[in-house]
Amino acid sequence: MVEWWKQSVFYEIYMPSFKDGNGDGIGDFSGITSKLDYLKELGIDGLWLTPFYPSPKVDNGYDIADYYEIDSDYGTMEDFELLIKEAHQGGIKVIADLVLNHTSSEHKWFKESRSNKDHPKRDWYIWRDEPNNWESFFGDTAWEYDQVTNQYYYHAFAKEQVDLNWANPDVKEAMFDVMKFWLEKGVDGFRLDVINFLKVNDRFIDNPFDADKNEQNHLYDKDQEGILTIIEQIAEFVHQYPDKFLVGEVGSEDIGILKQFSGLGKLDVVFNFNIGSIEKFDAGRLFEQLSETEKAYDEHQVPTLFFSSHDMSRFISRFGGDEDRAKAVAALMLTAKGVPFLYFGDEIGMRDWITDDIEKMKDVQGLMGYKLALEAGKTAEEALAIANEKSRDKSRTPMRWNASGNVGFSDAEPWITIPNDAMKVNVAEQENDPASMLSFYKKLLHLRKEHSALRLGEYEELRYDEGMISYIKKDHSERIRVLLNFSNQERVLNVGNDAVLLLATKQESPESGRILANEAMLIKEGL
Ligand code: NOJ
Repeated sequence: MVEWWKQSVFYEIYMPSFKDGNGDGIGDFSGITSKLDYLKELGIDGLWLTPFYPSPKVDNGYDIADYYEIDSDYGTMEDFELLIKEAHQGGIKVIADLVLNHTSSEHKWFKESRSNKDHPKRDWYIWRDEPNNWESFFGDTAWEYDQVTNQYYYHAFAKEQVDLNWANPDVKEAMFDVMKFWLEKGVDGFRLDVINFLKVNDRFIDNPFDADKNEQNHLYDKDQEGILTIIEQIAEFVHQYPDKFLVGEVGSEDIGILKQFSGLGKLDVVFNFNIGSIEKFDAGRLFEQLSETEKAYDEHQVPTLFFSSHDMSRFISRFGGDEDRAKAVAALMLTAKGVPFLYFGDEIGMRDWITDDIEKMKDVQGLMGYKLALEAGKTAEEALAIANEKSRDKSRTPMRWNASGNVGFSDAEPWITIPNDAMKVNVAEQENDPASMLSFYKKLLHLRKEHSALRLGEYEELRYDEGMISYIKKDHSERIRVLLNFSNQERVLNVGNDAVLLLATKQESPESGRILANEAMLIKEGL
């Protein structure tokens, strides 16, 4: 039996922005439950929910204050249970985002830890008399002075996200209890936040400076000795429960490092940022990364495929805004080898949101960028540009269910009000339009369901030729050729007589024997 996740398409829901069920302006569980039919019809198989636990939301829930409850913005435990139940009835799995690396500074563990040096929980976090040079991933020092006990604590992200000390076995035990709790509630697994950060160098060696990149090289604050043992222990613990799935966020673009985190006895998959967060569209680079992953991974390792998330610009915007290209990229994401993670709203072609007013910015990373830019002597205008560059608000605007704007979201949240620049970028208008982005995604997702080779096939030929990526996906029952012409020129097709066209993204009936510029085609060939 093939594991369910190997043939699933996940859909990432950024909790506050998907669907508001109670009219308070914030997305919630009852909203998601009310959209399960939409998700089923779309053709996805699993949901990844960003953190939904009580949180001051300095970093939108990645600062958890209580691991055993539901944040009241998102509803109640009953609402959560109902979503799980109804999703499962509809054949949709649900995985929960879990932050094991740090807690909110409002978490009771941290409050206890900071209360005095002799507290039994003092060592649950990382305290030092003197900071070293480590920088936070949001910018600035990673150490915060705490006057209560006259020491510094370590935070890889915002100062309100305090790093736990995974060298202390009690921390591990506490987190295993947390995982047990949610597994028993019925989640189908976890997306593990910054999981390669759990261990830091125990001698706190200063990080070197990378002159080429003009930034600190985070050599000693991630991927440290002992991390793989912890990964194996987490995997063993979670996999005691049948059919549970683990995807890790491993903050590294190095395939050699990524490779160590997934496979037999490890996480099921890890995100491949070397493909997913490629900054500018570059078909050649994309191809290189696909083939590098193919070469590096063994038979127990499965890649992941995504191009957008709540942490980056939406790919349609990042790749230049062209809808045909976006369709061809989606065709790659849903047919190449790997587990796809589709980000909510990409299926209707939602674009990035850029603000002209720093007051409207919510994202801690953008705001930190703004502050540091001003401190470095930039003008307010320059600082805003830097902040927009860094800010992740751009992809976090609410799902556009219909044309009248951000339905279900109150005007009290000005940051999420986006100009009505693209009236058709909404579900209602695309639902009954066979030429829409949404109809295209549905078609592709349903083709994937019908053809096992698209989901599980091996590559027969993985090629690159002047802007065209192509491959054949093959399993015991069929061979499907995928052609992605990312060049600006049409090409002559070279396929056998018995070929059957399954999908062409631009031509309605491609009798021409050609594939157009920025077109994707799926062609079924004889075995
Ligand atoms: C990765 C999450 O995806 C991101 O949104 C968050 O800011 C950091 N981890 C810190 O938890």
